[in-house]
Amino acid sequence: MNTAIYPGSFDPITYGHLDIIERSARFFDRLIVAVLSNPQKQPLFTAEERVDMIRDSVKHIPNIEVESFQGLLVDFARIKKARIIIKGLRAVSDFEYELQMALMNKKLDNDIETFFMMTSAKYSYLSSSVVKEVASFGGCIRDLVPSAVENRLRKKFLAKKINNGGF
Ligand code: PNS
Repeated sequence: MNTAIYPGSFDPITYGHLDIIERSARFFDRLIVAVLSNPQKQPLFTAEERVDMIRDSVKHIPNIEVESFQGLLVDFARIKKARIIIKGLRAVSDFEYELQMALMNKKLDNDIETFFMMTSAKYSYLSSSVVKEVASFGGCIRDLVPSAVENRLRKKFLAKKINNGGF
């Protein structure tokens, strides 16, 4: 079985990620969306919440699995028998970081290749960070994330406001 892995923080998944998932899934028997669960990072959503939101957003694509992982990506890829890592590239600014990660992963496991896909132009400005910032100030994110994610973001920031005594 031809398996690829699409890793990321997905905090939260955006239409930009979904675009890469939909386009790349056509080329593989199985695409595993791998959500980094890093105890040292402080994401807005827990790994379980991020996995849930992605599962909800990819229901219409049959060959997708969504899992969280800890530790090295190449170790997780090996366990899953995936030899291809999919990464999306937006602008030149993504390139240096992505090159560094691809070369490090290659150094760690020479049998695993990174395939880069250019993002669709309409999502080239989109990132999870920008979406969170806009949502935190109550801006419209309808065209940026699936509706389940939009609802979760609204709830999350509402809860934060209440906890911080914003009402
Ligand atoms: O969405 P992101 O935050 O750009 O994703 C980064 C990710 C999860 C792909 C990267 O941090 C990663 O692979 N982390 C796992 C640890 C690892 O394998 N590091 C070595 C490669 S530099």
